[in-house]
Amino acid sequence: MTDRLVIFDTTLRDGEQSPGASMTKEQKVRIAKVLEKMRVDVIEAGFPIASEGDFDSVRAVAQSVSDSTVCGLARALDKDIERAAAAISPAESGRIHTFIATSPIHMQTKLRMQPDAVLEQAVRAVKMARNFTDDVEFSAEDAGRSEFDFLCRIVEAAIDAGARTINIPDTVGYNLPHQFGDLIGRLKAAVPNADKAIFSVHCHNDLGLAVANSLAAVRHGARQVECTINGLGERAGNASLEEIVMAVRTRQDIFDCDTAIDTTQIVPASRLVSNITGFPVQPNKAIVGANAFAHESGIHQDGVIKNRETYEIMRAQDVGWSTNKMVMGKHSGRSAFRARMLELGVEFQSDEELNDAFYRFKELADKKHEIFDEDLQALVTDAGAESENEWLRLEQLESRSKTGEIPVSRVSLLVDGEPKSGNSEGSGQVDATFKAIESVVHSDSQLQLYSVNNVTRGTDSQGEVTVRLENGGRIVNGHGADTDIVIASAKAYVNALNKLMSPQDRAHPQNNGLI
Ligand code: KIV
Ligand code: ZN
Repeated sequence: MTDRLVIFDTTLRDGEQSPGASMTKEQKVRIAKVLEKMRVDVIEAGFPIASEGDFDSVRAVAQSVSDSTVCGLARALDKDIERAAAAISPAESGRIHTFIATSPIHMQTKLRMQPDAVLEQAVRAVKMARNFTDDVEFSAEDAGRSEFDFLCRIVEAAIDAGARTINIPDTVGYNLPHQFGDLIGRLKAAVPNADKAIFSVHCHNDLGLAVANSLAAVRHGARQVECTINGLGERAGNASLEEIVMAVRTRQDIFDCDTAIDTTQIVPASRLVSNITGFPVQPNKAIVGANAFAHESGIHQDGVIKNRETYEIMRAQDVGWSTNKMVMGKHSGRSAFRARMLELGVEFQSDEELNDAFYRFKELADKKHEIFDEDLQALVTDAGAESENEWLRLEQLESRSKTGEIPVSRVSLLVDGEPKSGNSEGSGQVDATFKAIESVVHSDSQLQLYSVNNVTRGTDSQGEVTVRLENGGRIVNGHGADTDIVIASAKAYVNALNKLMSPQDRAHPQNNGLI
């Protein structure tokens, strides 16, 4: 009999810590529902003490999800734990995940605490969390650089205090696979009460080893992996859920455990997260990249036609790549549209929301005859982006370019309800459009990234644009989609400016200071 490997998804918490990846409450609920459908065991929905917005999002996820456990992160502080407990309270199954750093560098320079005091605080936090739920997880932050003996002591004490899951994070992605696997094996052997808890790992990808380290840990007895869709996360990201799940599923000859994941939900989840965050998936990304199942060389194509297994170790449809991707057209009706959206994880909250999305769908279908799943997802992300914060609204855009002439754009905007217009020249139509918007708004922000992806194939495809702006250290991503990429770009720029103007009071979980 194989053991169960618990999949703990932290896309909504650690994933959201990627610069510019912040998500609205509605977007988080939408992702959480897809994760639930995928049969993720635990969804870490956020860090409730960080802001009112984070608290509301965790609560909304706890209210919307019933098949997965919903988890809230808390430092080992009373007020964090109380806040996390309140946020997860509506959940059918709720978990509090509390953590404190255990490495010498973190304890000495960040926490300025002695190891004994850290241990005492960890025990107090776990005990306090147990007053609210039986499902308490303890993380020894920066365990990958902690002293082994101290790690054993704090893990033993946390289990005694009531932690059911012990998470060993490689917070800075420093470990190598043989070393990290060994660490888990040694800990499980050395901690006297190790059998009373599930050992978990949480690996960052600074050396590109997050997945390899997590899998090595599983081979040495870890039975929970913390991961994110598309490997999103702080700095270089976390271990990617799709790679962990498919490695374990594909190599059942090596692993004596398996997950409960419905792998056919992997590609839809990947697309949704990419659409919402504006972080494109690289074409050669394992499992979910556009080329992951594409065969270019003639020899490979010939081999696959004769026997798929000559060059494929997984089936594309098993991870959710559909063979017949054309889903809807101009004549599709409202109920077919609603049903398809539901399959993609998008549930409309009101008739008004459905009507608005359906209207956009019809508009798109007039411009583009074949509508694919990717188009539908982009449509909804785009609608969400427009309704986020209406401080700034794009009313009209006129843009012109001609060989031998300087491109010009003119924009009509609603700024806080007041109509304003601006125009500018630029090196191209997109440049002219951004300058025209800036001639009205004067945001003083720096453009850090501009990217366009075609949502589907063909020149009639929608262009999905991501714009990353920075202002005073704050980074936001804006998105826009349209069959005209200049319009998509203007929408993305306006969306980013709207996000920059919204208040930001979030704290970072790894800050030790009190908020
Ligand atoms: O990377 C890390 O150590 C974390 C902890 C909060 C688990 O994200
Ligand atoms: Zn992390």
